[in-house]
Amino acid sequence: MTIGVFLPDGSAKDWVSVLADRMPNEVVADVSHITDPTDVEILVVGNPTASELSAFTSVCFVQSTYAGPDRFSSDPDRPDVPAARITGGGLAVAMAEFVTTAVMSAHRQFPAYRDQQAERSWEALGQPIAADRTIGFLGIGPLAQASAAMVAGLGFRVMAWARSSRAGDVPVVSGIDGLSELLRRSDVVVNLLPLTPETTGLLDVGAFDQFQRGAALVHCGRGPQVHIPDLVAALDTGQLSHAWLDVFAIEPLPSGDPLWTHPAVTITPHVAASSSPDLLAADVADNINRFRNGKDPRGLI
Ligand code: OXD
Repeated sequence: MTIGVFLPDGSAKDWVSVLADRMPNEVVADVSHITDPTDVEILVVGNPTASELSAFTSVCFVQSTYAGPDRFSSDPDRPDVPAARITGGGLAVAMAEFVTTAVMSAHRQFPAYRDQQAERSWEALGQPIAADRTIGFLGIGPLAQASAAMVAGLGFRVMAWARSSRAGDVPVVSGIDGLSELLRRSDVVVNLLPLTPETTGLLDVGAFDQFQRGAALVHCGRGPQVHIPDLVAALDTGQLSHAWLDVFAIEPLPSGDPLWTHPAVTITPHVAASSSPDLLAADVADNINRFRNGKDPRGLI
């Protein structure tokens, strides 16, 4: 029985090669080269819809290469078998590096100095140190925990807003009052929430009005969580100083979108933590082995 790689984004070939190297006793194949889909027992996927997987009727375990396979996990018709997502490993390190870079840039006011450079303006903007700043995380799953640990290691105060209070060393607030507290206290708000009905549209005018004046946003959750017109209004009035946006409701962001040229926005093309085979093959192979050996895979959806 085969491990089928269903990754129509062009990465299937690399995934097949790294997984075959790590699991020499398994048959690993790109599903687009398989003649009988019922041969596939384990599927490696990204974030598919259930209908894309409907031909794989013998599948008994699905492993996503995503940390947040929201389309797949919320699809009521997905195969009724155990399914897992990536919970940490290399992806958490990549996210922590991205978040830390944006936090440091906000902290040392690089966007404001870039604006000054355009004006040939030679002006010192003040120099608080990391311990003077609070970084607030919306969501404290494995990627946010790794990011919080990295910025805390640089001396920043960290806090998080989450449903559960289990977040290692990070102080957590919850509920609507907790959200207000985090938004009021944070110099940089980092969004790493999963997309759910409750988080859709969470960052709107009501939220931005509660930010400290001049605070920054780092948005690596999911596009629909931010109400873009409200964000642009908050940036235009200076209520927010800068937004790092890595995820969008429509991806790729259409070339005519005004966000591309907004002076207070930094855009990256959903690359904060990309699921590259080199980074994640060990985690995926380990989870498949766990499943094969009757152990619970990590990150069960
Ligand atoms: C993920 C992502 O969920 O890349 O892994 O957004």
